[in-house]
Amino acid sequence: MTSGHAPSPRIPSFASRLLAWYDRHARALPWRIPPNSGRVPNPYYIWMAEVMLQQTTVAAVAGYFQRFTQSWPSVSDLAAADDADVMAAWAGLGYYARARNLLACARVVADQYDGQFPSSEAELRALPGVGDYTAAAVAAIAFGQRAVVVDANIERVMARYRWIETPLPAAKKLIRAALAPLVPEARTGDFAQAMMDLGAGICTIRRPACGICPLMQDCAVVGRADIESVPVKPAKKAKPHRHGLAYWIEDDQHIWLVTRPTKGMLGGMRALPGGAWGDDRLGSNSGVSVDHSFTHFDLTLTLVERGVDVLDAPHATDFGVDGNGAADLQDGQWWPISTLDDAGLPTLYRKLVDQKRRRDEGRTKPKG
Ligand code: ADE
Repeated sequence: MTSGHAPSPRIPSFASRLLAWYDRHARALPWRIPPNSGRVPNPYYIWMAEVMLQQTTVAAVAGYFQRFTQSWPSVSDLAAADDADVMAAWAGLGYYARARNLLACARVVADQYDGQFPSSEAELRALPGVGDYTAAAVAAIAFGQRAVVVDANIERVMARYRWIETPLPAAKKLIRAALAPLVPEARTGDFAQAMMDLGAGICTIRRPACGICPLMQDCAVVGRADIESVPVKPAKKAKPHRHGLAYWIEDDQHIWLVTRPTKGMLGGMRALPGGAWGDDRLGSNSGVSVDHSFTHFDLTLTLVERGVDVLDAPHATDFGVDGNGAADLQDGQWWPISTLDDAGLPTLYRKLVDQKRRRDEGRTKPKG
């Protein structure tokens, strides 16, 4: 006779199921050590990747990561780099404060830590540009520390797994509390990256692939039709619209470029000169303008063609050295137009230059 109780099916722990899935499906990424490869991660690579991946997709980061680590193979190499070279190499990746902090952090690690990243979350958190997320990610992935890593992908996985309907950002605390006890003692870096990969490939924003999810047995979404509604996003604020001018000052196949002040939007980046961005619509003589969306406002930037004589005015007030985002007009350099693509202009200015090129090509095309 057997007892009347069927043995209860054992559900392997959350981390075991997740890691078994990761062992088969981990994405191969340039900064990543494949699971069970026995290789040791390079903390410099992990830190660099995690800074680049803040607010930026894996697809956008990959090429930048390759170029940065080729140009500056170690944190000491990066610390010794020229600011202008690093800012130019970052051009197009956005959120330029990250590039300034990247350099500042590299210099602290080179000078104060003898070129070796510290391994504790608290010491990492004290470095320039390293916030809660990055400190936890580097501690776990580079050093195997048990840290609770929460990025947007992980937020989505946990909010659904526990069906947390509180809107973000208030939900963050609940999500962290739900995740903390599930983080294993070992393979903490794989665990964090497995959660990210699950969010990116299975628990996607739209049409999650629950049928092949390793967490499905005990996920709170089972039987629900409204899975995509969680996590609940905060209400979107209306963005203000600003206007700005960019001056095209050309002489003998060269164009005048300035470096934007380190504090403020696109700080430290090479740019076309121009006044501060404001609320008023601005006139132009070029017919060239572009729209660009920043996190907190939308911008229409309009190109104005000016003669070189404008550089002779000792204090050209319409260009304004006004402490409000405009660079000093006189503080610039002549850049060959033929190599303008190598100047490291941020996307905003690159779009404007492309637009001008298209206009010029249209003008020179033979009629008929
Ligand atoms: N997003 C942020 N960090 C990541 C990582 N280490 N792997 C994949 N996606 C990420």
